[in-house]
Amino acid sequence: MSQTARTRPTALITGASSGLGASYARRLAEQGYDLVLVARRRDRLESLAADLRAASDVRSEVLVADLVEPDGRAAVQARAGRGDIELLINNAGFPGYRPFVDLDPDVADDLIRLHVRVPTLLTRAALPHMLRRRSGAVINVASLLALSGTIPANPMPYRAVYAGAKAYLLTFTQTLAGELKDSGVRLQLLLPGVVATEFHDQLNIDRGRLASMAMQADEVVAASLAALDRGELLCVPGLEDPSLLEELGKAQRAVMEAGNRPQLAGRYKTAAPSR
Ligand SMILES: NC(=O)c1ccc[n+]([C@@H]2O[C@H](COP(=O)([O-])OP(=O)(O)OC[C@H]3O[C@@H](n4cnc5c(N)ncnc54)[C@H](OP(=O)(O)O)[C@@H]3O)[C@@H](O)[C@H]2O)c1
Repeated sequence: MSQTARTRPTALITGASSGLGASYARRLAEQGYDLVLVARRRDRLESLAADLRAASDVRSEVLVADLVEPDGRAAVQARAGRGDIELLINNAGFPGYRPFVDLDPDVADDLIRLHVRVPTLLTRAALPHMLRRRSGAVINVASLLALSGTIPANPMPYRAVYAGAKAYLLTFTQTLAGELKDSGVRLQLLLPGVVATEFHDQLNIDRGRLASMAMQADEVVAASLAALDRGELLCVPGLEDPSLLEELGKAQRAVMEAGNRPQLAGRYKTAAPSR
């Protein structure tokens, strides 16, 4: 192994076979990272790895795994925990948009595994090594839909489990960032709006309308990596005024501070017990 190869940092990207994940891979290869590319479609991963090798001296490891299956998840967890991952990108995902009562329970379970369980366990595997080195970063790819709880389903998609899972990533990442303050490890939650990827391929959506709303994956990834350099915990690529995120945090803290007390709120004191 050459000296150059030994000193390159390694990034592990889940969902690297298309869309945002493939775009992260291309951008990080340009920035001098070696890569661990994770997804189910081997042909896509191998073709991406070959393209990257042709363009630079990047080393791309292809790790074919279905992350909703225990064996696939365990294999990626083991790789994330080997000690060399400098940047972990928890990106793999799918929408499963459907009215909740029509959502196949197994698909609901897959959504929770892929968007909640897998990022949590991969972060848990990679983080101790980053903390020991006092360097490294984790990017969790959520969605603006993490903030969509007060917005009705129509014309937005039916999304209770998807949006709920992405909201988990929001609170998980923010809370963990507080724990890791001054540790040398950076965290980011990426909250894109609509992005032009294969994500929508299985959905019954007007392609023209979608194209007019969608940001390009390369732009989202450029924003995410710029935000990481800038030390921004939350990255909303299309948001012109980031002070709105401060306002959101202030509103959450105000509700917590006002509501966390031993007395019942006045409107509940006289309420009749419900049956
Ligand atoms: N596109 C949007 O409008 C949008 C907006 C906000 C957030 N996001 C989020 O962005 C992330 C990336 O999505 P994308 O837009 O780039 O969509 P995409 O092009 O469909 O990519 C999804 C990636 O996830 C992988 N994946 C899906 N299920 C998997 C499984 N069971 N095991 C392993 N890998 C799996 C897919 O690879 P294989 O099929 O090869 O396994 C693919 O590489 C997702 O977390 C999504 O929720 C997307």
